[in-house]
Amino acid sequence: MIVTIDGPAGAGKSSIARQVADRLRFEFLDTGAMYRAVTLGALREQIDLDDTEALVEYARGTTLRWEDYRIYLNGEDVTDEIRTTAVTNAIHYLADLPAVRRQLSLQQRQIAEGRDIVTEGRDQGAEVFPDAECKIFLTASPKERARRRQQQLAQMGRHLSLDEVLEKQNQRDAEDRGRPLGALRPADDAVVIESDGMSSDEVLERALEIVEQAIEAQKVKDC
Ligand code: C5P
Repeated sequence: MIVTIDGPAGAGKSSIARQVADRLRFEFLDTGAMYRAVTLGALREQIDLDDTEALVEYARGTTLRWEDYRIYLNGEDVTDEIRTTAVTNAIHYLADLPAVRRQLSLQQRQIAEGRDIVTEGRDQGAEVFPDAECKIFLTASPKERARRRQQQLAQMGRHLSLDEVLEKQNQRDAEDRGRPLGALRPADDAVVIESDGMSSDEVLERALEIVEQAIEAQKVKDC
């Protein structure tokens, strides 16, 4: 069974998706890590980010592996390195390219094939897994997301004003919503969780409730 959890940056998808997977003993796939890893590779190779052909060719020549919550680029574990601001700022150059998206989407489908898995990203329910048995779109207002992100950054010793965080987040939202293929949007049959005012435990319980209902519906269908 495939469970997709999509939503904008800062909605808390990663943590909820991991916890849902843990609780249900499903596997977990962080598709953002795949986009981040290819971007890191392109930066390391100093490919001109405006040279779309070179980016597509580079992406075609890379091997990504996802194992035990870690991402490997051409065999090297890059899980920690993909979280830098340089990578975050450059992702859209690759994530905007339909050829790169098609390649990563294909890999995502291969990883999920025949598994019980929670996949997390932007386009999982609407484009990569249109037939997924359970689709969740997790979101919160821009201000709420920025506030949470600001707290997270402060815990890591980076103190930014709410306006600074909000500005960067708005930019990422616009990039994620505006791409021609793989744009951030809820699938028509996704259940939306609007998490303003909810604690992370409440969000988790709501997500589990949605998945459990989908599991029950699947059992009835299989009967
Ligand atoms: O989820 P995370 O913030 O790590 O994703 C980083 C970026 O990768 C997103 O802002 C988005 O541009 C891109 N992405 C994507 N499609 C996905 C997952 C992530 O385009 N399925």
